[in-house]
Parts: sequence; structure tokens; C-alpha cells
Amino acid sequence: LSVAVLISGTGSNLRALLEAADDPAYPARIVAVGADRDASGLAHAEAFGVPSFVVGYRDHPTREAWGEELGRRLDAVQPDLIVLSGLMRLLPPALVARWAPRIVNTHPAYLPEFPGAHGVRDALAAGAAQTGASVIVVDDGVDTGPILAQERVPVLPGDTEDTLHERIKPVERRLLIDVVRRIAADELPLAGGAHP
Ligand code: GRF
Repeated sequence: LSVAVLISGTGSNLRALLEAADDPAYPARIVAVGADRDASGLAHAEAFGVPSFVVGYRDHPTREAWGEELGRRLDAVQPDLIVLSGLMRLLPPALVARWAPRIVNTHPAYLPEFPGAHGVRDALAAGAAQTGASVIVVDDGVDTGPILAQERVPVLPGDTEDTLHERIKPVERRLLIDVVRRIAADELPLAGGAHP
């Protein structure tokens, strides 16, 4: 299974996928990494010899124009699956329509709890005793697609957004690596997404 990963940040989840895919026994290959800015995580792609590209969100007048350029880059790669791993942008509906349901996203909360760009901060602010990590199929909404995998993560007294996020990310990485493996092995239907 060929996978393109889109990031905006440090790409720690991307790095975990690159490491997993480095094992010949893993049924997926990361064939490209894309970013909406000069993300530090692009260094992980370089370290693993994976081609990368930047389609700067700020270089385009509209989200749609950005999506069209991103779409052209993805069409050139023709991945079997697109993984959003810390991409902090909503894909325009036209791009989702072009690739759905072969787009999955990781989210640092137990969806449908705390969707959106600040799931970790929102869980903390809500005083939640536990939050989680989720991998979903991307649809036109914000973190509203079918849930492919999710797991609870405790919130501990004294947690800051960073300490909580750092506790969530390893769970996210493990779920993501397993979901991609299961998709590659045709064990996980993407349309509708069985939620174990
Ligand atoms: C991940 O928790 C992702 O779910 C969220 O932002 C974080 C990105 O972390 N959207 P990294 O860039 O993979 O380190």
C-alpha cells in the first residue's frame, strides 16, 4: 500500500510511520510527505529518503486554490492512502471528494469528544478525567468521519497541554501504525469504517 502523509508540525507521528514502514514486513510504504508550511517534520522524510513537498497555505489566495495545488501534487504521487498526521488545515470539500474514503486522520482526543484544532487544550479546560486518541476516515466535517480506532488516555493532575499531548501522541502513533497496517492487509474497510 502506498501512503502519502501530510503534516504541519514536528511530524512525530510521521516519524513513527516511517520507522514502521522501514520494516520490509510492514505492508505499507510511505511514498511522499507533504506539508502546508516549512514544517520541521519534513526532516524525517529526508532522513528516510522519502520525497517531500510544501504547498504553502499562505502562498494561495484561498483554501480552494491551496487545495487545488495540493491535489495536483497528490495526483502526481497517486497514493493508495493519504494520512493526515498533524495537518492543521481542513481539506477543501473538492479534495476530500476526490480522495474519500482513502484519507485518514489522527486526532488527539476520544472523538466525538473534543473535535477541532485544540482537542488537547479543550479536554484539559473541560476538566476531563480522561481523553484519548482517535484515527478516523476524513469526511467533509471537522473530525466527524467514521472512527477506525480509538483508545482512552488518562488526564493526570497537574497536566499541561504539552504533558497531556505528549502522553496522547504515543497512543496516537500506535493506533495509526496499526490502522495503516490493517488497511494495507484489507482487514479494515474504509467506507463506513468498522470501529472495534
Ligand atoms: C498530533 O497529536 C495530531 O493528532 C495533532 O497534532 C499533533 C501533531 O504532532 N493534530 P506531530 O506533528 O505528529 O508531532
